[in-house]
Amino acid sequence: MDAAAGLREPWVVAIDGEAATGKSSLGVLLAQSLGAAFLDTGAMYRDATALGLERGVDLGDAAALVALVQRERAAHVWERVGPMWTLDEAFDQRLRRPEVAERVAVVAKHAELRGLMVAWQRAVGARRSRLVSEGRDQGRVVFPGALAKLYLIADLDDQVQRRAAQMRDAGHSVDVAQLRRALAERNEIDRNNALQMGDGAVPIDTRGREPADVLAHMQRVVLEAAAKRDT
Ligand code: DC
Repeated sequence: MDAAAGLREPWVVAIDGEAATGKSSLGVLLAQSLGAAFLDTGAMYRDATALGLERGVDLGDAAALVALVQRERAAHVWERVGPMWTLDEAFDQRLRRPEVAERVAVVAKHAELRGLMVAWQRAVGARRSRLVSEGRDQGRVVFPGALAKLYLIADLDDQVQRRAAQMRDAGHSVDVAQLRRALAERNEIDRNNALQMGDGAVPIDTRGREPADVLAHMQRVVLEAAAKRDT
């Protein structure tokens, strides 16, 4: 669709929601369809966790983690602009490692680290005239002035299925019962860290729907928000 032509720039679309609700896969498709850059902010927290593990930094030491991330990633370009919408495979594999997945929610708790990530995410928003950004706090905290704020909803069974498929694709074996417990626990921690549906967010219920149908719904919400803003 050539809908992006009608959107007055600059604009950001924020996508938030629990883990494994399709924020990344649908977010990329939305960005692609609107000619926008795409930002996966979960990857930033996962990378901080992976870096900490690789360099032997205590993941409970917020100041040391912030210093490490600043040293290693100050010049990193986080947004993706296509035509390659996926992360470099080795980098992605590194972020998907089970020990990273297990610890990232704890790392994402550090207020100092969140402050740095929010600043970097806003810097991406400032240099991109069209941006789709996904995470937990994108609409409420990072881009409160976003053109549209989408909040994806899925049930735990769908989340488990989606994450299990991703893990199998990445070559990891999956204990479904354990994954279910871990995702339920992650959702709880995320809610305490950052995740809430803020004012002005539009809930998008993905339950029992095909991805193409959800994507069309997301596109509609963005276009309606633009029409409303411009009147
Ligand atoms: O979306 P994800 O599973 O890649 O996110 C990884 C972790 O980072 C997850 O525990 C939630 C956290 N996170 C966050 O606290 N704030 C964000 N903006 C994005 C992710």
